[in-house]
Amino acid sequence: MNSDISAVLFDERELKKRICELGTELSKAYFDKNPVLICILKGSVVFLSDLMRHITVPIEIDFIRISSYDASTKSSGVITLKMDVKTNIENRHVVIVEDIIDTGLSIVFLREHLSSFKPESIVVCALLDKPEAHLVDIDIEFKGFEIGNEFVVGYGLDFDEKYRNLPFIGILKKEVYIEPQ
Ligand code: IMP
Ligand code: MG
Repeated sequence: MNSDISAVLFDERELKKRICELGTELSKAYFDKNPVLICILKGSVVFLSDLMRHITVPIEIDFIRISSYDASTKSSGVITLKMDVKTNIENRHVVIVEDIIDTGLSIVFLREHLSSFKPESIVVCALLDKPEAHLVDIDIEFKGFEIGNEFVVGYGLDFDEKYRNLPFIGILKKEVYIEPQ
């Protein structure tokens, strides 16, 4: 797997440090709110599991699954709900936990979908953001790092279901996903 990576963007130490800071920020913001952290499957599971252990106030967790990518590095733009949340989030404070924001279309879809359950508030906590790739205006209240418009894998992020178990985040070599002409 490592030979498919052209560069390591964030190693384990850098990820841990930033996620610890995000945990502290969330603990302060939600100290009396018992928020529900909603993890977007599958990419955000590694982030959620580390982030929640750096939150020092009571929280609940739940999962939702959507899809817009198949075996491709481009969003199809058509987002479908594959598995909904089970928690009743009416009047609750919701934190959407997302691995990476690319076009922003998933976040728009999720905010709209989750709003229909009438939560008290919704914010987004994203580990990575690609500002240059946004196609829509979105708010990201808690953000780990901004990155360039490159396809990255590891730490939960996949290409065609591979590389999720890399402990770091790295740039995937183009020859792995671009067919030679
Ligand atoms: P968006 O709807 O275009 O913002 O896409 C967001 C989702 O696409 C993320 O939650 C990831 O699952 C996936 N994604 C976007 N960029 C990357 C990437 O560089 N590597 C792996 N997955 C990505
Ligand atoms: Mg995702």
